[in-house]
Amino acid sequence: MLLLGLETSCDETAAAVVEEVNDPVRPWRIRSSIVASQVAIHREWGGVVPELASRQHLRDICGVVERAVEEAGTSLAALDALAVTQGPGLVGSLLVGVSFAKSLALALGRPLVAVHHLAGHIESLFLEHGSLPLPAVVLVVSGGHTSLFHVPEAGVYRTIGRTRDDAAGEAYDKVAKLLGLGYPGGPIIDTLAKDGNDRAVDFPVSRMTHRDRVAPDRTVRFEFSFSGLKTSVLRYVRGQRIDGASDAARGARGEPVPQPRTLSAQEVRDIAASFQRVVVETLLDRTFGAARWVGAKSVGIAGGVSANSRLRRDAVIRGQEAGLPVFVPSLHLSTDNAAMIAAAGLRRFHEGGRAGWSLNAEASLAI
Ligand code: KG4
Ligand code: ZN
Repeated sequence: MLLLGLETSCDETAAAVVEEVNDPVRPWRIRSSIVASQVAIHREWGGVVPELASRQHLRDICGVVERAVEEAGTSLAALDALAVTQGPGLVGSLLVGVSFAKSLALALGRPLVAVHHLAGHIESLFLEHGSLPLPAVVLVVSGGHTSLFHVPEAGVYRTIGRTRDDAAGEAYDKVAKLLGLGYPGGPIIDTLAKDGNDRAVDFPVSRMTHRDRVAPDRTVRFEFSFSGLKTSVLRYVRGQRIDGASDAARGARGEPVPQPRTLSAQEVRDIAASFQRVVVETLLDRTFGAARWVGAKSVGIAGGVSANSRLRRDAVIRGQEAGLPVFVPSLHLSTDNAAMIAAAGLRRFHEGGRAGWSLNAEASLAI
């Protein structure tokens, strides 16, 4: 069976053909996976501009789908089904994929399956590694999301934690911006941190109170929070640049306000490493705490931030300590792509999931 997946939830226009083969251990094979990234367009603005994103999806989608079909060595007529990301994401971006998928499915007379973007990230692990030992705990960590899922059996995703404010990738991007490092910040901070002292600055780890961890119905949650950390980095950077006193305080005392100094390259590397240590520790503390709590047999980490070299390295160490295998997707499957949407689509297809022609994009779709 051949399924075409489409993904346009944020700033990547992606299409992929995934084949289902008769192998119970690894049933999905990627025949093609094309991603047209808009990073160069949004870099100029320091973040994704929704209006520009949807316009660029419109320009790219036909070519991306044609290339995916061509590289898979197949034809549109040979496809058995289509799958598309319905949400969550930027509504204008999602609409391009949803409308395109509905039109193509209607024209070809093929069934269409709606996919939740985070289900796609979770399925990237199954696509890459075959089935994970279950139950599993999966952390999906990207620019838009930081969520923990309990996966008791394949295709069942129970949310057991999420961020209350910024996503981890968003914190990376904002910290990179305030350090003047460019966009997207994650890969830049990851690289700089390699030559930094991760104990140079003692940024606070956000601790959750009992009420944060136990919901009113007494179920345990594993919440994240990254906006406080981002503010601490901002305060620290400002303090360093003006030698610890604020311009306003100096002005009020009638003292001359000094010109802000520039941070040295080593100071920036140290800040990057110290910030990254706190993010990675927070992510792994919650993930392994959740794994203990649900009695998981494996841990998965997916989404753009799972490309982070320290997160990957430390996760494996924690896994060895806890006696749990840790799974991460390869780099091309960790950031947004359509192969993961096609995989999630194949699973939904066999569960009987079919989208009608009234399918609409949903910016805050629940899983
Ligand atoms: O999954 P993704 O491509 O898109 C969303 O669904 O958000 O994730 C993009 C996010 C960005 O915030 C980017 O800075 C972050 O993933 N990212 C990283 C790394 N590579 C990408 N963060 C930390 N370290 C990396 N190596
Ligand atoms: Zn994503």
